[in-house]
Amino acid sequence: MEPMNKEELLALDRRLVWHAFSQMSEYNGLIIESAEGCWLTDIDGRRILDGASSLWCNVHGHKNPTIDQAIKDQLEKVAHVTNLGMSHPVSITLAKRLVETAPHGLNHVFFCGDGASAVEVAMKIAFQYWIQTGELQRTKFLALGSAYHGDTLGTVSLGGVPRFHEMFKPILFPVLRGPCPEIRTQSKFRMYEEDPASKEFYLSQYRELLEQNKGQIAGVVVEPLMQCAAGMVMQPAGFLRGIADLCREFNTLLIVDEIAVGLGRTGRLYASQWEDVEPDLMCIGKGLTGGYLPMSATLTTSKIFEAFLGDASKTLYHGHTYGGNPLCAAAAHASLDLLMDKLSSEDFCFRLTQLQNRLKKLANHDDVASVTQLGALGAVVLKQGSPRAKAICDVALQQGVWLRPLGNCIPIVPP
Ligand SMILES: Cc1ncc(COP(=O)(O)O)c(C=O)c1O
Repeated sequence: MEPMNKEELLALDRRLVWHAFSQMSEYNGLIIESAEGCWLTDIDGRRILDGASSLWCNVHGHKNPTIDQAIKDQLEKVAHVTNLGMSHPVSITLAKRLVETAPHGLNHVFFCGDGASAVEVAMKIAFQYWIQTGELQRTKFLALGSAYHGDTLGTVSLGGVPRFHEMFKPILFPVLRGPCPEIRTQSKFRMYEEDPASKEFYLSQYRELLEQNKGQIAGVVVEPLMQCAAGMVMQPAGFLRGIADLCREFNTLLIVDEIAVGLGRTGRLYASQWEDVEPDLMCIGKGLTGGYLPMSATLTTSKIFEAFLGDASKTLYHGHTYGGNPLCAAAAHASLDLLMDKLSSEDFCFRLTQLQNRLKKLANHDDVASVTQLGALGAVVLKQGSPRAKAICDVALQQGVWLRPLGNCIPIVPP
C-alpha cells in the first residue's frame, strides 16, 4: 500500500475507525508512530509521555528489549496454535509460573484474550460449579457499587457505573449490588490505610445482602483494594479480607478481578496478597504481557476444577480463539521475569515514593477534591465545578503528557 501523509491518515481515521469510549463527533486524532520506554512519538515526531501506560497495560514501558526478543524468538517457532484440545510449551510453562506466584490455592489457569472475557468465564465457571455440585439455586452474583468489569453483556451486567451501563439495562441480567466501598479520611490525600468505621459500615451492608440471599449467590465479584474505572476509589484496608471471610461464612465463591490492580500495579504482584486473601477465582489481564499483546487468564482452585471432570455434560463449553496464544505467552513470560526483579528492587520503591510525593502536592490545589495513590496507581479527582478533567488532559497533551480522564477523575498510571 502507498504510504500516506498525516492529513490523509487523519481523515481516514475519523471516517473509518470507530474508536473505543470516544465520541466520534469530537474525535481529534492522535496518531502514534512509535514508542520507547515511557515515551510515545506521534506522526509529527513529537514526544509525548505515556501517563496512562496505554490504558494501564505497559508495565515496563514500550519497546522493551527483553519482551521484544521473547516475541521474536517465539516467532521462529510458532505464532499460533489453538488451545482447544492441544497445547505448546510456552503456555504450559506460563500456567506453571502463574500458579506458583498467585495467591495460594489457585492451581488451574484458563487463558482468554482480554479482561472482559476473563471475567465472563469466571462467572460461567462459578455458575456451572454450583450446578455440578448440586446447589442449583445459586444463580445470583453480588457486585460492588460503581463496579466495572468490562464491556461484554455479562460484565456490563456486573457493572455499576451508570454512565457506561444504564443504557443497556433492558438486555442485562439482574445482579445484587452493595454500596461502593470507599475510604473516608479527613485528608485529601488517600492511601491504602485503616478506616475501621467505613470498613465495618460497608461490610455490614454486604453481610445483610448475603443473609437476605442465603444459598442463592453463586459468587461475589470484587475488584480488590481500589475500584479503578469507578474513578480510582480506594477501599478501607481490611474490606477485602472481610468480604473473603463473608464468602467463607456464607459458602459462596469469591471472584477477584485483578485486571487493573494485578501484575505489580499496587506494589505487590497481586492486590489480594496485601490482605492474604485466597480467592476462588482470580481474573488477570492488561499488564500480563507487559502491554504487548492481548492475553488474560482466569485462575481457579482444584476444588472447582475437579467439579468439571467426568462425562461430556460436565465440560466447560467456553473458549476464545486466541486463548493461550504462544506469542502472548512468550511476552507474558518475559514481562513476569522483569516484574519479579522490579518488585523487589530499591529503585522501584524509590520511584513509588517520588510518585507519592508529587501526588501529595497536587492534593493542596483548590480545584482538587482528593488525590489517591496505591503503588503505581494514582488519580486526581476534581471538585464539582472545577475545570473539566477532559480540558485538563487536553492541556496536558499540549504540554507533552498523555492522560485519559474518567469523568471528573484523572488517572495517573505510569509505566
Ligand atoms: C477492573 C477491570 N476489569 C475488567 C476490565 C476489562 O478489560 P478489557 O478492556 O481488557 O476487556 C477492565 C478494563 O479496564 C478493568 O479495569
